[in-house]
Amino acid sequence: MDTKLRIRRPDDWHLHLRDREMLAAVAPWSANLGRAIIMPNLVPPVVTGAEAAAYRDRILAALPENVTLRPLMTLYLTETTDPADVLAAHAQGIIAAVKLYPAGATTNSASGVRDFDRVRPVLDAMAEAGIPLCVHGEVTDPAVDIFDREAVFIDRVLDPIRRATPGLRVVMEHVTTADGVAYVQSGDNIGATITTHHLVINRNHILVGGIRPHYYCLPVAKRENHRLALVEAATSGDPRFFTGTDSAPHPDHAKESACGCAGCFTAPNWLQICAHVFEQAGALDRLEGFASLHGAAFYGLDPNPDHITLTRRDTPARWPERITAGDETVTVFDPGFPVHWHIEDDA
Ligand code: DOR
Ligand code: ZN
Repeated sequence: MDTKLRIRRPDDWHLHLRDREMLAAVAPWSANLGRAIIMPNLVPPVVTGAEAAAYRDRILAALPENVTLRPLMTLYLTETTDPADVLAAHAQGIIAAVKLYPAGATTNSASGVRDFDRVRPVLDAMAEAGIPLCVHGEVTDPAVDIFDREAVFIDRVLDPIRRATPGLRVVMEHVTTADGVAYVQSGDNIGATITTHHLVINRNHILVGGIRPHYYCLPVAKRENHRLALVEAATSGDPRFFTGTDSAPHPDHAKESACGCAGCFTAPNWLQICAHVFEQAGALDRLEGFASLHGAAFYGLDPNPDHITLTRRDTPARWPERITAGDETVTVFDPGFPVHWHIEDDA
């Protein structure tokens, strides 16, 4: 018999929609969300309130009619960001958060922050106004092993920032380690997003039996014990943990390359896969909190008023192996197992 799970419409608290042809190709796959926090790492990045407003208009124009998605914009923090511009953009309802990329940490992060003291005035102003800071939590020090970069970031950067600006609300984005989970569990004014792919792959999936570029993302997936810590945090019911897919489309030629770029495209199947993970953990009753309630509460928003239904069927759910974006293709994340959860829209 089919099992049904009716939950408030989910949100995505970390999403890359890109621009131009890629935006047109991927936006419809996120159209059935409630809200999504849109990442600002375009080329060039979305740095000012005016740029965020213009990007929001481009996203709305790329969406089909009558969709539920409401994009919540972010600004890309640089060492020359003007606190007054951030405050004005927030007061006008243009932005919901600011994103901190350490310079060089990931895709299009060259304009990010090198000297964290230089952004202190912006962070102080954000704390005062209650504007959340979304953090890509990895150090870029070449001496630090890539698998340790999240844990070292907590000690060297994140904890000092939070001590210097105690009221600042921080989202540790795409947490990938047991260390990150423990840090978030021990604090106030801090939450974390967890991606779908980090709930299902560990570093063996990337490297054993050949390199699988479509599993490469940043922060890179870690050992199995870290994946298990993420599943435990996501399914625990702790409101500090919520969905942020980090769905990050790249053209296949850029992934399947001698220097392949980071990102998993999960927009078409993340919720179905999450339902599978929660079912396996015996925590289906907590999926709604993770996907639809905790993130909204962290951002001070109400849950979406409407619902969706997830139905578990004997036939596996299907999605395209890849989608077309202009002249390019983008491969959809393959969880590596059949997923039996199907989405129905109750709106
Ligand atoms: O894997 C990732 N891809 N991690 C990031 O932090 C950025 C993202 C992207 O923009 O491609
Ligand atoms: Zn991201």
